This record gives sequence, structure tokens and C-alpha cells, in this order.
Amino acid sequence: MKFSRSPALIIALSCLVSLCSSTSMAQTTRMSRHSNSAASTASSSMPRLVEKDGRYALMVDGTPYLMLGGQINNSSAWPGLLPKVWEAAANLHVNTIEAPIYWEQLEPQPDHFDYSMVDMLVHQAREHHVHLVLLWFATWKNGSQHYSPEWVKLDMARFPREISPKGETMDILSPHSDNNLHADIHAFTALMRHLKMIDGAEHTVLLIQVENEPGTYGTNRDYSPAAQQLFNGPAPAALVTAMHKSPGTWQQVFGADADESFAAWSISHYIDQVAAAGKAEYPLPMYVNVALRDPDDPHARAGANYPSGGGSYNMLDVWKATAHNVDIVAPDIYLSGDAKYRKLLALYGRPDNALFVPETANGPNAARYFFSVLGAGGIGFSPFGIDRTRPFIPPTAPVTVPGVPVGFVDPTVPPPVNPLAAEYELFAPMVREIARLNFDGKLQTAVEEKGTPVETLDFGHWHARVSYGLNPFGWSNNPAPGNAEPIGRVLVAQLGPNEYLVTGFHARIDFETAGRHREFLRVEEGHYEDGKWQFLRIYNGDQTDYGLNFTDEPRVLRVTLHEY
Ligand code: DGJ
Repeated sequence: MKFSRSPALIIALSCLVSLCSSTSMAQTTRMSRHSNSAASTASSSMPRLVEKDGRYALMVDGTPYLMLGGQINNSSAWPGLLPKVWEAAANLHVNTIEAPIYWEQLEPQPDHFDYSMVDMLVHQAREHHVHLVLLWFATWKNGSQHYSPEWVKLDMARFPREISPKGETMDILSPHSDNNLHADIHAFTALMRHLKMIDGAEHTVLLIQVENEPGTYGTNRDYSPAAQQLFNGPAPAALVTAMHKSPGTWQQVFGADADESFAAWSISHYIDQVAAAGKAEYPLPMYVNVALRDPDDPHARAGANYPSGGGSYNMLDVWKATAHNVDIVAPDIYLSGDAKYRKLLALYGRPDNALFVPETANGPNAARYFFSVLGAGGIGFSPFGIDRTRPFIPPTAPVTVPGVPVGFVDPTVPPPVNPLAAEYELFAPMVREIARLNFDGKLQTAVEEKGTPVETLDFGHWHARVSYGLNPFGWSNNPAPGNAEPIGRVLVAQLGPNEYLVTGFHARIDFETAGRHREFLRVEEGHYEDGKWQFLRIYNGDQTDYGLNFTDEPRVLRVTLHEY
């Protein structure tokens, strides 16, 4: 990744402005006008999401990029905490950090903006050679409004909350209020305008998450008078058409799903307007993350088991039909189980929706699931809470604290080595190649699951046979037993008719073609550097006689096959 230092002056200037804090919008507008021409000259290489035959790439500096991400804890984007963040980022070998921008910090008084935090994040990210994804914590943060500024929280008449069916005032701003929408847009556009000024040339920031896990807990939708009036009227024609339904009221069109569909439309329409206004200032790709509905729980209830109106899989069509300025609806995968993980990847990676996992449990399975996401065509992966600044949860505590991912430990104890770190380190020099191969549909992965010790990746003429739990030296007449724990994972990418890039951990890979013998013509170990393969050695003898064996040592091979 290349980071030039040239815009440091811009950052320094904007930091100076931020130190004066409470910059007025008038000042901001002037500054952004001043910067427009500089930024627009570089806009051709803006980060952007591109689609080809239903596959996606996040283009960064004009070529596909693979996000080896890590999200920091919610309260970690503060000056005193950032040293720990950068340390964690280096330990995990991430190339991208996901960090929140807090509305309450950005606009502490109406129309008075403090850009010191965003400046600091961008500046320090550059110093540490990582890209950023910024998370806009505003109207929604996990189905609540806790990041709205005090002046919003305290003025419920001007900034109304949702109302439950019993008439209670909820802990969430109503999506049916123009005041709420315009206040959010006002702050978000100020942020995007400022970002364009400080980062429009350098593109440290790649993606913006608009809001955080939107939706509503405690009610399946807003029952305020404004909401009720809309709900009693016709469902919007564009939505009805996109959903292939016949016109009518919400109840008539959506039946038993009317309340949740209405919530999903209201929230996605609101967020779409926030995203559109932000893009009008600075058109970075934008996504919304989702607190998931369990696809295996037929009794899951919106508003009770998952937030109502978010992009849960059953509401994904409503979101895609409504939020055209939201590029990706992205699953936060904390639900456990390999089969469920796969199912969720299939539900969210669709021809009309790029697969991106912006949050997932930072536990022992993350290393395997990174391979699962790659194999499903993902553009990025990001475990949550990498900086270990959460409150201590004793190891003896039951792991049933809602919303707390497995894997958080005493922050005073050195972290156990996270297998994902070795994986990210292995992938970091070749993210461009891997992202391109994935975009071109040339890449497949296999991830071990209990009870499946052998699997096959079908590349047409050649098949890659993957086995787990075999001794790396020697053939055995016994079938592969599988590893004691399912930790095996491999990636195979086709480079040419008989040429493959192969990597993985705790697995054996061999190649087969129907009715013929395979021979390794040449196996090279090496790595990529600046897009060029760097040869280390020819791999032969014990290293190839029993197939290509991967242990816990990071290793990349280029394999040329021959048949006779
Ligand atoms: C999901 C949220 O999106 C994150 O901000 C954080 O609250 C995690 N849950 C905590 O597990």
C-alpha cells in the first residue's frame, strides 16, 4: 500500500481549524470550496465498488482491494485510546481499521463542528499505513439513538422518538420526522465535506458505514401519529413494483409482514437520503450493517429477537428496492455455527449485493471464516473489538452476555496468538492479486467442518482435492481423519490452464484430472511484492511427494501441473 505524505499540510491546517473546535458551517463551506479543485483532480481514482457478472470488487487506486479489516471497540476512537488501536492493528496485520465517528462529538452544539477526531484518525491511520472505514454513529447505533448529541436527546418535541403500540416513548429517534432526518443529514454532510477536503486526494478512507445496525427493539415499528398516517395509506408504488406485488395499503400488500416491511422501508428510505446527501459532498461507497435475524429460527420476531426494520435477510429485498445510495447491506455475523455462517454468506452475497462482513466475532473461528468469506466472493472481513479495550469479562463468566462476542479476555493479560494474524500477514502482500482473482471468479476456498475430512474444489479440467488431518510426510491407506479441531482451510486460485496459486493451513491439497495421472511439473514457493511474484525456492521431494501439505506455517505456492 502506498501512502504519500503530500496532503500532510492539508491535515495540519484542518487540525488547526479543529483545535479551534466549534467551527461554524460557514467556515466549513468555505474550506471545502477551497479544496474542491484539488480533490476533483484526483477523483478518477476514488474508491468505488464495481460489479462484473454478479461479482464485486472494491477498487482502491484503480485496482481491486481486499480488506483485511479489524473494527475497534465503540469507545476507542479517542486520542488516549488510539495508541492501543494502532498496536492492535499492527499485531493483527490489518490493512484497514474500522473506526466510529460520533455525532455527539462531531456536533456538540447545533451547527458547531469539531473535526479534531476525524482529522486525528485520518492522520494517524496514514502514519500507521492503514486505510480506514468510518462508521457514522448517529440516528441509529444498535437500534438506539445513544450517539445523538445532547441537544437532540433533550429536545424530544423537536426530535421525536418512536412510539410503541402502547403509546410509550422509545429509546430511538423516529424515522418519520423531517427534523431528525435533516439534523442527521446536516451533520453527515459536514463530515463528508470535511473528508473530501482532507482526504479527497489521498483516499485513506475507503468506505463509509451510514448509521450502525439500524432498526428498532421493543416495537416492530413506529406507531407515532406521523407513522400511523403513512402506514394507513398506500405502500409506495416503487416498492410495490420492485417487490412484484399489487398496489394497496401496507396491510394489503404485505399481509403478516406489513409492520416489519413498513419499518424496513421507513428506515431504509431515511438512511438512503442521508447517504445520498453525503455522496453529493463526497461520493465514497457506503454500506449499512445488519444485526442479523437467525435464518434457522422460524420463530424469530422482529423487534424482539432482532431489530425490526434493519436489513435482516427477510427484509433485504425491501432495502435493495429502496436504498439505492447504499451500496452494500452487510451482515454482522456473530451467530455461531459453521453451517449458519455459510448460509448467511449466501443470503447476503447476491448479484445485487456485494458480500462484505464488517463485523464478526473476534474468536478462534475468525481465521477459518476469513477463508469462507473469500470463497464466497467477499470484498472484506473485519472482526470486532480488536483493541481489547472492553471491560474485563472473567473467563468463568457464562458466555451468554447478549451481544458480547466470544473471545474477550482480561486486557492486562497478553493476548493469545490469534491465528488470523498469521493469515492476514500472509495475505497482506498479495491482497491486490487475491482481490483480482476473486473478482475474475478464479478463486475457491475450502474450510474444514467437523465430519467432513475431504472435499473437492472443481476447476473444470482439474479438481483440487483437499484433505484434513493427514500426516504431512507419507501416504496412508487410511482415509483422512480430519484435524482434532476443524482448523483446516485452503485457497486455490487458477492462474492459467494448468497453473494454480495455492495457500492454506492444516490441510493437504492435491490435484486430479479424470482418468489420467497428475505430475507436478514445477512447484515454486514465494510471495508477491508490488504485484510481482518473488521466487523463494523450488518445492520438491518430501515437500511434494505426498501432495502439497500446509501446516501452521504461512506459505504460498505456485503450482504447474502436467498429466499423462
Ligand atoms: C454490534 C455493533 O454493531 C457494534 O458496534 C458493537 O456494539 C458490537 N455489536 C458489540 O458486540
